[in-house]
Amino acid sequence: MPKGFPKPLSFNFLFICTLLLFSINLASAKSNVFSNVLSPKRLGLKREKLSHLHFYFHDIVSGRNPTAILVASAAMTNKFKTGFGAVLMADDPLTEAPERTSKLVGKAQGIYASAAQDQVGFLMVMNFAFMEGKYNGSSLSLLGRNTVLSTVREMPIVGGSGLFRFARGYAQAKTHTLDLKTRNAVVEYNVYVFHY
Ligand SMILES: *[C@@H]1O[C@H](CO)[C@@H](O)[C@H](O)[C@H]1NC(C)=O
Repeated sequence: MPKGFPKPLSFNFLFICTLLLFSINLASAKSNVFSNVLSPKRLGLKREKLSHLHFYFHDIVSGRNPTAILVASAAMTNKFKTGFGAVLMADDPLTEAPERTSKLVGKAQGIYASAAQDQVGFLMVMNFAFMEGKYNGSSLSLLGRNTVLSTVREMPIVGGSGLFRFARGYAQAKTHTLDLKTRNAVVEYNVYVFHY
């Protein structure tokens, strides 16, 4: 072999490597790739921060314009003092201050259901859909256990959307007023979430 033989080989080798890299790049740019690893920067994620939200939740179950309605129950639900088996759908206003007429900051939309036989304990599956300021259009998802007769109930925040993407944290609920006759309640919420 002539002396120059190794040169074209290494050139070919480099050429093939470049082609390979190029095709790998093309493959990851294709939309039909099932999964790939991204750097958080690619999603514009910078520093994780901790936010505190404070608002009042209005659960109106009676009168002409209820915001929470019974959608299902079992034949034996009313045999339980705790209403075990009752399922309610809520679209409850969230306001800045305890007064219903104070500024609306969002709605709590979702289901709460009596999930305990011996004490009043609700399963809460709710989205807080925010409507105020920079959080307008963003939401937080809550999934937890609400023993409504306890002074403070803590429930996990399991996720969020918009400005609350990747959110996780907890909510603390404290009954502000409960009308024993109408069962309407105002509940103070403190929510602590990590998000970007
Ligand atoms: C929130 O966003 C909606 C839809 O973009 C808009 O119609 C509404 O006026 C906004 N509300 C506030 C309080 O900014």
